[in-house]
Formats: sequence, C-alpha cells, structure tokens
Amino acid sequence: MDKAKRKAIIAGNWKMNKTPSEATALLNEITPLVKDADCEVIACVPYVDIAAAVEAAKGTNVKIGAENCHWAESGAFTGEISTGMLKEIGVEYVVLGHSERRQYFGETDETVNKRTKAALAAGLKPIVCVGELLWERECDITEEVIARQIKLDLWDVTEDELKNVVIAYEPVWAIGTGKTATSDQAEEVCAFIRAQLAKLYNQAAADAVTIQYGGSMNDGNADELLSKTNVDGGLIGGASLVAEKFAAIVKAASK
Ligand code: PGA
Repeated sequence: MDKAKRKAIIAGNWKMNKTPSEATALLNEITPLVKDADCEVIACVPYVDIAAAVEAAKGTNVKIGAENCHWAESGAFTGEISTGMLKEIGVEYVVLGHSERRQYFGETDETVNKRTKAALAAGLKPIVCVGELLWERECDITEEVIARQIKLDLWDVTEDELKNVVIAYEPVWAIGTGKTATSDQAEEVCAFIRAQLAKLYNQAAADAVTIQYGGSMNDGNADELLSKTNVDGGLIGGASLVAEKFAAIVKAASK
C-alpha cells in the first residue's frame, strides 16, 4: 500500500492548556480554517475541556480526542478517567504513552499496553506515542528503544485491532524544544516502526497503519516532514494552540 492510501492524520495535543471557554474559542477559530481538509483533523484536549470541545466541533470535520485514559472500566482509581466515560462524552481518539506521561507520571510500557488494550476494547482509537531520549540516540540505541516500545505497547493487540491504532513517533529531545528531527531522521524511524509492525503482524497490516511524527512540527517544517514516505501525519503540541499555524499544518497534510 502506498502512502496516498493511508489516512493522513493531523492531531493537536493541547497538553495542559486552555480552560473550557478558551477551548471553545480556539476551536471556533480552527474549524472554519480546516473545513476543506483532505486529512483527518483531531484536537486532543484536557478532560475538563472535552464537553465544550465536542460541542464546538459538532457538525464540523474536527474530531475530539483525550490525552489519556485508564484501563479499568470503573473503580477505586482516584483522579482517573475511564474509556467508557470518554466514549459517552463523544471522544474518538486518545493519546497514550506520551513521553510527558512516561517522564513525569511513571507511565511504563506495561501501563501503556493496558491503556491501549482498554481503549481498543471500548472502540476508541489510541494514538500510541513512542520515541527515544536524547542520550539513547547518542548511544545509538534508537532502534532498540523503539522496537521494544512497539512490541510491548502493542502486546496482545490483534491484527484487526491494529487497524484502529495510530502510532506517533516523537523523539523526546524534539518535544517542545524547537529542535525538530530532520525529515530524514523522522523518515528513518517511521520506516523502522513500519518494519517492526510488519515483523509483528504482516506487511499489509503494517502498510495500513498511520504513523505520525511529533516534536516541534510547525507551519514552517510540516511540508518537508510530511513529504516523507512513512510520515503520514503529525502530533502537534505548541503549534496546535495557534489556529493559523495548526491550519497550515493541516493544509500541508492535505496535499
Ligand atoms: P511540540 O509537542 O509540538 O510542542 O514539540 C509535540 C507533542 O508533545 O506531542
């Protein structure tokens, strides 16, 4: 399958930004700018913004995502949010295993895997984030790190479920730092991820998976990054909070 047949997906990751009223205002700016997009457009927003975001995106081509979910259906997990809660409120996608969760909140490949399985079982589409630290790249173990994350994070995910999985390659050293991976570096690792998927599943299943790049992607570098064969979209942090910049990235993915 060639790139043109894969679904291009541009997803904003708002992180811990915007109150509900601010979320409505930003989506009201974004939605008219991306209405003719020839790719999937998603805004992943903080939990408390979801209701307002779903309302603001109603009748538009923008889908709303969450930034995490728990693996249990319910129970004694103070402060957590279940997949059922997200489903009912109108969420379609969920970011899982973001490096900030791994770095600051003790997320491991095991918990990313549990969340991924739960999201899929609930009919949510997980955007599973993988990526190496700077020192791991310097030690030349990027491929080992990525192979391990892919294998563990997708452990026990069936070939059928894989159709609903999006992978985001986010080199940790490029997130929020203004340091973008070069398009060749992004392509190299995204192609490696696809090769790992082919090994774990098969080539056809791997070819159908949307693989995003994330890490300081913006309106200035999106064209170049998205021109690469195995870069099918972007997970956008900082630039997703500025409507014009986000819309420019969506436009680049629509070509
Ligand atoms: P950034 O964040 O675009 O601000 O680097 C990307 C991300 O963390 O998903």
